[in-house]
Amino acid sequence: MENNITVSVPGKLMVLGEHAVVYGYPCIVTAVDKYLTVEGKKIPGKNDKINSYGNKDLSFVKNAIFLIREKYDIGDKFQLDIRSEISGMGLGSSAAVTVGTVKILSVILGLNLSSKEVFDLSYRVVRINQPMSSGFDIASCIYGSTILFDGSTKKVKKITDKILPLIAIFSGKKADTVSMVDQMAHLYKNNPVKTKRIFDSIEKLVKKGVDAIKNENWQILGKLMNENQKYLKELGVSSEILDRIIDNALQSGANGAKISGAGGGDCIIILASEEKKKIITERLLEKNYSVLKI
Ligand code: MEV
Repeated sequence: MENNITVSVPGKLMVLGEHAVVYGYPCIVTAVDKYLTVEGKKIPGKNDKINSYGNKDLSFVKNAIFLIREKYDIGDKFQLDIRSEISGMGLGSSAAVTVGTVKILSVILGLNLSSKEVFDLSYRVVRINQPMSSGFDIASCIYGSTILFDGSTKKVKKITDKILPLIAIFSGKKADTVSMVDQMAHLYKNNPVKTKRIFDSIEKLVKKGVDAIKNENWQILGKLMNENQKYLKELGVSSEILDRIIDNALQSGANGAKISGAGGGDCIIILASEEKKKIITERLLEKNYSVLKI
């Protein structure tokens, strides 16, 4: 492609606070060094040309183009080539492809959108398909690092740029985020007192988690992850296979392990020292689990 521009957007892992964040609570999310890349330029003709490798769902891209075209009264057509290393695993590819599209159009069209404007536009796009989305994954795509995301104000505070000692394991099953979020909405409606009590407890973990990460206290962060997992199990979003991977990791000496995201599938994150990471990885590979290189 000539005169092309490339935007790279990182994947993410939820460290603490999934589901509660949908109800306005804070969460901690970390960006990973696996990317979705959008390469693009203006083209002549009547139609956009979108080529996508590794990312099947084009609705986020089309909705983002539509929204920007309408908002800024733009008639140009675009070629976008999308390549993804993060699709189908719960690493946030829907948010990443949306942010990637909004950012590349901002550059190609000279719109100079601020991070807040990229967030607001991307959030509108994502909510077309996922109406209850908290937006934490969009924030992670835009700001990177490890951040505290406020589910109610959508404000972001950076916690650290340092790498967290995490391993991510793909459970082998793609989670259906929308139905997991709907399931939680049912629980919230039918049992608001219990659900709110659990979310309040998760909020406390998240607050402690910020200090644990800042102090690089992995013993404490691991304990907080385990407690968070206990609550997620109580909320009914873990599964037999996810529990099995977690038990395996903890028995092999991990500080902590939990689901990352909606649950019902996707990834498990495991926190462990360098030495233990090796042992845990070997044991999980022996059992044919898919350890992601992050
Ligand atoms: C899904 O990755 C995380 C949830 O908290 C949903 C959301 O925050 O939009 C379950």
